[in-house]
Amino acid sequence: MILAANWKMNFTRSEAKEFLKALGPALQALPSAKFSTSHEMRLYVPYLSLETTFNAVEKINSATSYKIQVGAQNVHQEKSGAYTGEISAPMLKDLGIKHVLIGHSERRIYFHETHEILLKKVMTALEHSLQVLFCVGETLEERNRQQTQAVLAQQLKHCLSSPELKPHWGKSIHLAYEPVWAIGTGVTATPEQAQESHKYIQSLLSKDLEPTQASSVKILYGGSVQPNNIDALLSQPNINGGLVGGASLKVDSWASLWNTMLTLRNKNA
Ligand code: PGA
Repeated sequence: MILAANWKMNFTRSEAKEFLKALGPALQALPSAKFSTSHEMRLYVPYLSLETTFNAVEKINSATSYKIQVGAQNVHQEKSGAYTGEISAPMLKDLGIKHVLIGHSERRIYFHETHEILLKKVMTALEHSLQVLFCVGETLEERNRQQTQAVLAQQLKHCLSSPELKPHWGKSIHLAYEPVWAIGTGVTATPEQAQESHKYIQSLLSKDLEPTQASSVKILYGGSVQPNNIDALLSQPNINGGLVGGASLKVDSWASLWNTMLTLRNKNA
């Protein structure tokens, strides 16, 4: 399983340093710290904190058995050029970054990232050996109109029908299901609602990919994940981890989420 933090536009570089300074000891003090684990922690941080976070995490990883990874929250679809203010995949690669979040609903809604742009971003990221966590999810209106499945199918269609992406599913492309109505609202999808969508996404994958490849794609749930609900969410058969915004910004809640994941030992890693 994967536990991923999405810091969004939070933490100055000094605040990130403070957080990371406290994170190492907090993780080492957890009751689960003695478990060896193949679960993975990822921190998707603002561009300006990437290098600081990368360096701090190297230290935590060498002092523990953890494999914390650092990722960017976005990347431009072109490799270079006249795109003032943007950051390219080669720039991320040069920093040693291996992960990127693509298609978060805040990027789709506020920055008008279309299906076509997102497909291009995924392709460019993969060309530069970045691992992609691709986000999908419906709005409340769409859910109320019984359009959840149609929206998920539409959001995945471009990537799933691309022959270039096919070999990468389950290796360099994993997914996050984040219902927009649950993001930052404190209203979490019930474990049953989340499971229903995850199962549907898995069925979409199975239509286009071989069964073993389809089942190797991890699907993380995101949307108001908190220490008091992660257990029930991760206990669902098709939920393979969490993507966490608000609760990833406090060392206590973040360490507690990680502890719960490590303690759910009967789940596949
Ligand atoms: P939230 O954000 O946990 O604050 O709801 C999740 C996300 O947007 O990735």
